[in-house]
Amino acid sequence: MTLRAVVKGVGHYLPERVVPNSEFEDSLDTNDAWIRSRSGIQRRHFAAKDETTSTMASAAARAALTDASLAPADIDAIIVATSTADLTFPSVATMVQADLGMETGFAFDVQAVCAGFIYALSNANAMILSGQAKRVLVIGAETFSRIMDWSDRSTCVLFGDGAGALILEAQPGKGTPQDRGILSTDLNSDGRHKDLLYVDGGVSTGTTGYLRMQGNQVFRHAVEKLASTAQKAMERAGVSPQDVDWIVPHQANIRIIQGTAKKLGLSMDNVVVTVQDHGNTSAASIPLALSVGRERGQIKEGDLLVTEAIGGGLAWGAVVLRW
Ligand code: UT7
Repeated sequence: MTLRAVVKGVGHYLPERVVPNSEFEDSLDTNDAWIRSRSGIQRRHFAAKDETTSTMASAAARAALTDASLAPADIDAIIVATSTADLTFPSVATMVQADLGMETGFAFDVQAVCAGFIYALSNANAMILSGQAKRVLVIGAETFSRIMDWSDRSTCVLFGDGAGALILEAQPGKGTPQDRGILSTDLNSDGRHKDLLYVDGGVSTGTTGYLRMQGNQVFRHAVEKLASTAQKAMERAGVSPQDVDWIVPHQANIRIIQGTAKKLGLSMDNVVVTVQDHGNTSAASIPLALSVGRERGQIKEGDLLVTEAIGGGLAWGAVVLRW
């Protein structure tokens, strides 16, 4: 018998305020046509003043619990992927734990920027396979609007806020690619590229700081690294691109998404795309896309999914799972 970490439920939360590209035209030398054509983004959601990464994470968690017909007490562990924690510490995950009224189990954050949800899924999978937890709530939640330099047109038009959550449960499998659940993971990082995408604040400066990105340099790495990590994860899972029903990529740029699909030999008909509506929500983008893809009726039980992401570090990776 092989243990598998199987999806029990999914949910998301998006703040009410929707900001179209045109809203940036008054304050910046930019326009809707540039943003759409260079990134595919048309609008994004921004958190209200009283919303934080933890409040959005809790809302997404509640939606996933409802979808799974589970109560907070049924969960053994919470992992939150985020780079925009409410406070330096404690973790967002413990804030969510308190908010859900959970008095047992354990909770912690994972920080791998835009690849954070892939890293969190991989951690959750390892904990389930090693018997440390039976049910893990995995959340990606971000408030990137709080780390934007609003005078920098090359970054502030790209990012958005939101949260998505997935519940994984230990279930027996046969050890074949036909099993439901996580079939393989692949994680990578290369700190030599740490200056391509970073926030210029933290405990060393005593400020929160603003996001700084050499977008075209990150772009140069993205397609090649995303295709290669997806390929490695598929090989590990014993599946090939023809078997894949859906790529659920990190939603940073439609051109990266298209380039990666092409490199994998897959049609855009097999890709869940939300970048036009959410912008880049960093670690929240994949769980948001999973939840929206499920809501749209794209992702169905038994479908084979490849999720992949790259971001600051650089850190990148992929997860193959059967829904
Ligand atoms: O999620 C984490 C990982 N991050 C990513 O994956 C992001 C990867 N990078 C990208 O998505 C793209 O590189 C961007 C969307 C950020 C930029 O697209 P690009 O095609 O790489 O453009 P560029 O940075 O090479 O800039 C082209 C031009 C520049 O002008 P010059 O130097 O050619 O005169 C920029 O100054 O576009 C200019 N530009 C803008 N123009 C209008 C930059 N931002 C804007 C803007 N509006 N908002």
